[in-house]
Amino acid sequence: MSARPKSIVILTGAGISAESGIDTFRDAGGLWERHSVYDIATPEGFARDPDLVLRFYDERRAGLAKVEPNAAHLALGRLEAEFAGDLLLVTQNVDDLHERGGFVDVCHMHGELRSALCTSCGTRSPWEGPMRDRPPCPVCKAPTLRPDVVWFGEMPYHMDRIEDALAACDLFVSIGTSGAVYPAAGFVSQARAMGTRTLELNLEPSEGTAIFHQARHGAASRLVPEWVEEVLKG
Ligand code: APR
Repeated sequence: MSARPKSIVILTGAGISAESGIDTFRDAGGLWERHSVYDIATPEGFARDPDLVLRFYDERRAGLAKVEPNAAHLALGRLEAEFAGDLLLVTQNVDDLHERGGFVDVCHMHGELRSALCTSCGTRSPWEGPMRDRPPCPVCKAPTLRPDVVWFGEMPYHMDRIEDALAACDLFVSIGTSGAVYPAAGFVSQARAMGTRTLELNLEPSEGTAIFHQARHGAASRLVPEWVEEVLKG
């Protein structure tokens, strides 16, 4: 990209964690090919069959112990440490690979696998183990924990912070996301409407690829370190 950015918003999706061994949602063989979105990722699905939903997220939470951040996560961790301007990393991912890649202040708009939400008292608590045996909420003791993951039909987290950063940034970068799920899929249009430069880094053209000023296609583990190097060199 041309001018040196002073304020950057980065949006990441499942594609940045794919090379770490975490399944994406919409690629061939992705999670939504093997599971019904309605069953697994809606409040109605949870009400109908909580055991199925708790087991699904318990398995994904346990799976985090078997994966490591890749070069793309590490490069963004380096960017946070070394970039002199404003930087907001918004992720749709519920894994913790950005944190383990060194990024400290990650904005998890779709929640986190390693967090529990109590449906009785509303408290969000750090959570490592399974939930299928209905453990008590650490705060109110009710056995009413659910995954602290934003399901379809629910409001994503941190929208005020994200909207403010989008309005103020001079570069918006989207990494490893298909652009199929709103509101995140709309960030590029919002940024462009404010005159912000926009860049896509994705394995293949996303649904919104034509909206970006520039799109680079390839593996995140290659494209992201290259781009971070460019930004830090200025
Ligand atoms: N490097 C870069 N991009 C990749 C790689 C890779 N190694 N592997 C896959 N991708 C790209 C795919 O080409 C695809 O465009 O990552 C994208 C993944 O898209 P999705 O599976 O749709 O994931 P995401 O965009 O994060 O999904 C958004 O949908 O179901 C919900 O809540 C869930 O947060 C998720 C949201």
